Amino acid sequence: MVYTDIFKLEQKVAIISGGAGGLGREAACGLAEFGAKVIVADQDHDSLKAVEKQFLESGLEVLTMEVDVTDCRSVENVAQKTLERFGRIDILINAAGINMRKPVLELEESEWDQTLDINLKGTFICSKIIGSAMVKQKQGKIVNMGSVSSLLGHPEHSAYAASKGGVLLFTRVLAMEWAPYNVNVNAIGPAYIKTALTEDYLSGEGHYDKIVQSIPMRRLGTPGDVVGAVLYLSSKASDFVTGTILMVDGGRTAD
Ligand SMILES: NC(=O)c1ccc[n+]([C@@H]2O[C@H](COP(=O)([O-])OP(=O)(O)OC[C@H]3O[C@@H](n4cnc5c(N)ncnc54)[C@H](O)[C@@H]3O)[C@@H](O)[C@H]2O)c1
Repeated sequence: MVYTDIFKLEQKVAIISGGAGGLGREAACGLAEFGAKVIVADQDHDSLKAVEKQFLESGLEVLTMEVDVTDCRSVENVAQKTLERFGRIDILINAAGINMRKPVLELEESEWDQTLDINLKGTFICSKIIGSAMVKQKQGKIVNMGSVSSLLGHPEHSAYAASKGGVLLFTRVLAMEWAPYNVNVNAIGPAYIKTALTEDYLSGEGHYDKIVQSIPMRRLGTPGDVVGAVLYLSSKASDFVTGTILMVDGGRTAD
């Protein structure tokens, strides 16, 4: 047997929602470097422009599209344009997400709804609409962004943890439903990684040290730490892996 090509992604078409953010952008770079045709979809126009510039400078190709993952029509537009251009969709990385850090007694209902809408309902909408092309093809890979908060109850993370716990169980259910169609559905569970999502919190007094102390490897993650997991779960290397969460957390959830 020859295993040297199990991570190759030539001819594969990948959509990354939230692809202009810290983790999504790095995942998009990794997928493109391994040969995938990459569509970066995000709601932030300026960040999409920055992605185009970064890819151009690295000599990598990218197609960017504006999307709101909570809006079915907007996601349908991304799926349709991708199919018109490439004729297939092989990989979906659901990386759009937000967090509202507040104790339950201070969290507004609208903040709860917004977090659940983007993190959980957005994952459902993108998986359903974009994944339907994979079901038709009888081949595909969906990678959802879970979190250590898919498993742990950190204070002040109620809406976020509810959404990420939901993402994990949605991942498992979809994996069951789409296993007969050869569509793998998995999640990644990162611990704290410095991106726009976490930088405010990490700059608070004592927060950085507290987080680092809670991680057995005694450091924060980097967006690059997540790329190996993305490549594994997007490629042939994980063909018999479905319904799981791969923790990328420096051991945070090991004990
Ligand atoms: N950074 C971490 O420490 C960490 C840890 C665990 C899990 N995660 C998860 O990884 C994912 C990416 O996080 P990140 O750190 O890259 O955050 P980020 O803020 O850098 O990126 C998130 C991206 O999602 C986009 N987005 C938000 N709402 C959207 C919407 N309605 N439609 C389309 N795009 C939308 C934003 O514009 C942004 O580009 C999130 O799901 C997050 O919960 C992050």
